[in-house]
Amino acid sequence: MEEKSYSPGLEGVIAAETRISFLDVEREEIVIRGYNLLELIRRRSYVDVVGLLVEEQLPTEARRAELEGQLVGAAVPPAVYEILAKLPASMHSMDRLRTAVSALAGFDPEADTADPQRERAKAPRLIGQIAQIVANLPRIARGGKAIPFHGGRSFAENFLRTIVEREVSPTEVRAFDQILMAYSEHELPNSTFAARVVASTLSDVYGALCAAIASLKGPLHGGANEAVMYMLQEAKTPEGLERLIREKLARKERIMGFGHRVYMHRMDPRAQLLKEVARELVSAKGKGADLLAMCERGEEVMRAEKGLYPNLDYYAAPLYALLDIPIELYTPIFFAARSVGLIAHVIEQHRENRLYRPRVRYLGPRGLTL
Ligand code: ACO
Repeated sequence: MEEKSYSPGLEGVIAAETRISFLDVEREEIVIRGYNLLELIRRRSYVDVVGLLVEEQLPTEARRAELEGQLVGAAVPPAVYEILAKLPASMHSMDRLRTAVSALAGFDPEADTADPQRERAKAPRLIGQIAQIVANLPRIARGGKAIPFHGGRSFAENFLRTIVEREVSPTEVRAFDQILMAYSEHELPNSTFAARVVASTLSDVYGALCAAIASLKGPLHGGANEAVMYMLQEAKTPEGLERLIREKLARKERIMGFGHRVYMHRMDPRAQLLKEVARELVSAKGKGADLLAMCERGEEVMRAEKGLYPNLDYYAAPLYALLDIPIELYTPIFFAARSVGLIAHVIEQHRENRLYRPRVRYLGPRGLTL
């Protein structure tokens, strides 16, 4: 039999054709349905990105308002919160979220579909439900009652206010909206691949999203943002972080928030942008300069020692801290923001499906006798 080529971790392998997004590393551009993601982040809002990804074009003013209403008004079945309330408080927030998304399927009469049109129609509701569940995770874990989105002027404002339980300034809302856009879609990372693999069996969007949540939880992927914050908390000062990073590197440990399969030796463009957003937030709030200085020292040390640059999760961590978002929500927010990209990929997979079923290079024994 002809020997097929093998690339560990599928590095460099083209595993899908897509019209959704592309990382053009040479031009330092993240293309989202033809637009530059950084331009979208600078000039548009998360609701526009939802329209672009799911409905394949930027929404008109009228459609935008309608979409915002659908996202904010999506009702979460009370039973989903009741299920969450029964889980041990010690359970990881991503595991709680996976359980909630799985339970949501039970309340969707059309859960069991792989029809792209129907999936597209329910996408705004599902994205809105996921955001509300994420915002309420800590409250329910503490034995409290879920609060539905209400009173805010935008989806981002409702989402942030429900998390932090206080009034939020327009600068804070804008920063949060930009984080959501930065996380919205990014070609074929492990979680999106996992979702597409599940969808390729013609299984439904809920199963695909649960697979993506499991993938995203891992510290080599979405879980890195919370690990970054724990590292910053341990380090306390720029000098402390430099010392900690050097110690970890001497022990051959990985430094969370650095490196990326696609951008390994260059800065993730999203990280650069979030760093700018963090600077703006620090100057608007008049606090957090020390936290940012610590991150910048970490960035310098890693560049000098390993030639590695921050990925998105590195600067997301101080931004979340500046917004008073609890660490347990860092990775769930990643998922809430990414749910739109994942749903777009599930729809595309269902529209142009071919079952994923690769082969292996067998390294085990043969011919053993019983
Ligand atoms: N800290 C220290 N060394 C690193 C790091 C890091 N964060 N990342 C890569 N390296 C080193 C590896 O040790 C390896 O060195 P070696 O050749 O001397 O053994 C070299 O760089 C190549 O690393 P690989 O593991 O082969 O690269 P891979 O493409 O598999 O890794 C990954 C990508 C998993 C993201 C890696 O950079 C990493 O572990 N980063 C930390 C976790 C993290 O921040 N994840 C978030 C990714 S972005 C996202 O999900 C939004």
